[in-house]
Amino acid sequence: MSELAIYGGPLTIQPDEIKPWPTVDEEDDRLVLEALHAEKQAYGPQNQAVQDEFAAWNGNSHAIFTNSGTAALHMGLAGCGVGAGDHVLVTAYSWSSSATCILHHNAIPIFVDIDFDTINMDTAKIEAAITPRTKAIVAVNLHGLCLNFDELLAVARKHNLKVVEDCCQAHGAQFNGRNCGTFGDAAAFSFNQNKCMCSGEGGMFVTNDEEVAANAAKLWSFGETRQPQQSRDYHAYALGWMYRNNEITAAFARAQLAKYPGNFAMLRANGELLNELLPGTRALIMPTEPAGHLHNWYNYNLRIDFEAADWTGDRARFRDAVAKALNAEGVPVSAWQQFILPEMTVFQAKNAYGGGFPWSIPGADEGVNYDPAQFPVAQRHCESYMALVMALRAPNGLDIAEKIATGIRKVFDNIDEIDPDRILA
Ligand SMILES: Cc1ncc(COP(=O)(O)O)c(C=O)c1O
Repeated sequence: MSELAIYGGPLTIQPDEIKPWPTVDEEDDRLVLEALHAEKQAYGPQNQAVQDEFAAWNGNSHAIFTNSGTAALHMGLAGCGVGAGDHVLVTAYSWSSSATCILHHNAIPIFVDIDFDTINMDTAKIEAAITPRTKAIVAVNLHGLCLNFDELLAVARKHNLKVVEDCCQAHGAQFNGRNCGTFGDAAAFSFNQNKCMCSGEGGMFVTNDEEVAANAAKLWSFGETRQPQQSRDYHAYALGWMYRNNEITAAFARAQLAKYPGNFAMLRANGELLNELLPGTRALIMPTEPAGHLHNWYNYNLRIDFEAADWTGDRARFRDAVAKALNAEGVPVSAWQQFILPEMTVFQAKNAYGGGFPWSIPGADEGVNYDPAQFPVAQRHCESYMALVMALRAPNGLDIAEKIATGIRKVFDNIDEIDPDRILA
């Protein structure tokens, strides 16, 4: 085994071998230029088309194109009738806005620890987190793996809770043969560039419920109730935001959506090759795809087994050193979220809107406990974890995936050589 690249040995993957994401071809050019030169550049035919095409692709009756996934999450909560001071359950480990979208609607996030294997909310811990004020669950399908919706929906139905799916990372992921975004009362997708279906920035709100769609649409565009294709009465029927997107981005999203089945197949094939090549690697915890789940491998999780690595020091520091060694080999990984959600200052300081609001709503703070020690599994995951994201996407194919596996094996087989003092100095 040759010396690690971080210590001057040969690289496993050369700097330009991994191609950037997303691929842009003549069809992207054609649609984007058509939108750019069209009469309407705000809401128009491209927005309508991307909504119709996404709804048909995912199996939803309503879709609204937004300027972010976070906007679509906020619309989901509003659409489901969540109100100020209500409690909403959410996983303790995710992107910040899986939880801050709850604050956007003046409701209170209540965190639930994760399951170590799936990295999703532990469905067995949901019931214990329910308070008399709990109205909904933000169900995050993290890293491209769906929650077990048989379990989650059973608790939600028992306690009459609405479910807003956060599918921002999960385009095309399935549970028991059904696409994510079709299980809850509403769902949100992100089209940010980092996502496996993207348009620079943007998002999609979806639901199969007409009333939820109508409520969400008000929030989307200034509290108005008229559809964009109707003449406007410029009246705010409710508190609204400006969450619309434009024609040029919608055209880009359409071009990317049309390519997604092929891109998804490549991502799946690359993920499956890693699943074949990596088992047995010392100190590497493999990601899981439980029976009945179809992972989209948006994010191929690499976690360190510190016991197997014989490491007893600072875990996050060791992880950072391993990540740096992998990057030096040419395997692009990052630590992603380095704090569990309840640990973030906005929750610790309860400083969302100033004056302690919305926790200062009478009774709203009852049963709220953001002590990070309550979420030991999320904490354990957080310090051991590295994200492998864009390198597995088309046009990068099996040749690149194989080299990525070689780079990972090289670093983990040399795990005794990892010296954080030397690497992070
Ligand atoms: C799990 C999750 N939820 C929500 C979001 C928010 O999406 P956006 O950046 O489009 O607002 C993201 C991505 O950033 C995410 O990864």
